Amino acid sequence: MHDGRRVPEPTTARRAVCRAFDRPLTIEEGAGPDVAPGQILVDIEAAGANFVDALIVQGRYQIRPQLPFTPGMEVAGTARSSGQRVLALCWFGGFATQVVVPEASVVPIPDGVSMGQAATLVQSYATMLFSLTRRTTVAPGEWMAVLGAGGGVGLAAIDVAKALGAMVVACASTEEKLDAARRAGADATIAYEDPGVDLKAAIREATGGGADVVVDPVGGAKAEAALRALRWGGRYVVLGFASGTIPQIPANQVLLNNRTIVGVDWGAFTFRDAPGNSALIAELVGMVADGRLRPVEPTTYPLEDVGRCLADLEERRITGKAVLVP
Ligand SMILES: NC(=O)c1ccc[n+]([C@@H]2O[C@H](COP(=O)([O-])OP(=O)(O)OC[C@H]3O[C@@H](n4cnc5c(N)ncnc54)[C@H](OP(=O)(O)O)[C@@H]3O)[C@@H](O)[C@H]2O)c1
Repeated sequence: MHDGRRVPEPTTARRAVCRAFDRPLTIEEGAGPDVAPGQILVDIEAAGANFVDALIVQGRYQIRPQLPFTPGMEVAGTARSSGQRVLALCWFGGFATQVVVPEASVVPIPDGVSMGQAATLVQSYATMLFSLTRRTTVAPGEWMAVLGAGGGVGLAAIDVAKALGAMVVACASTEEKLDAARRAGADATIAYEDPGVDLKAAIREATGGGADVVVDPVGGAKAEAALRALRWGGRYVVLGFASGTIPQIPANQVLLNNRTIVGVDWGAFTFRDAPGNSALIAELVGMVADGRLRPVEPTTYPLEDVGRCLADLEERRITGKAVLVP
């Protein structure tokens, strides 16, 4: 936007573009985005790359955007108008040097939080704070088991649960991921791909009889074993299906022990209840600012390596979070 007295300088931007769901993204340079009243231009320093982005660019997510488009749903950078360090949830356009977002979706980054941490905070952490305080609860001293514990959602689940006073058993495929889970505060770990590991028995043993909450962003064959490991009144939180398989749950396993299955669709919540989501993100950023939450530093990829980054996410090679740096 310009005020009639000053003509804004034309900007150029570089961005990763998806032109077809079955082809690699291309890096393209062109005119920078227009800024309308009520919007802010952010010069991006880091863009969070998520498992969801890998699905979206293949047309395998529940939302199929119109082609061509630039993926990237969360960014951190500098607000062009104020010079302030900000993070923003933009949904699309984040894998670029610049993005324009509504003023209302921009949040100042607390001191001591890096651009990388800020760019990877919202999707994973908002999902887990929403899950564990709005969709269900986990009380101090209760046990939470988390699958895919070394991934983005998994590590956020551990951090949020510890901040709420819970005990955590982290379940993941590699020693590196289990180490990350321990650093995030996990009290016990299970290497669930090791030969001979019975996930249900291992969770029951680690928790002294059963978990109160299971957090599952993985699905597949592990889901039923984890559900069966819930104790009396246990809650099973359905977050996603990173394994590629949507589990079919026997209903008797929900009846037994008065269990509850809780579905979480944080993305839909943000659209249906924008003020509720703003309050959630304010609470989240406050918890980071006062040190109750400690997001990890992400693995960094140059924007040009977007294809390698998304493949690493999809093929289970990343521990923690990843960012693209333009
Ligand atoms: N419902 C919501 O509101 C919401 C919000 C955000 C994300 N999600 C979903 O949550 C899921 C996880 O997201 P994320 O950001 O945590 O992803 P991520 O960082 O890539 O972590 C996913 C984890 O899943 C495990 N996994 C098991 N089998 C896998 C396979 N075949 N391919 C890839 N990963 C596999 C891996 O852990 P191990 O190697 O240790 O098994 C991996 O670390 C995604 O499906 C995403 O769409 C849902």
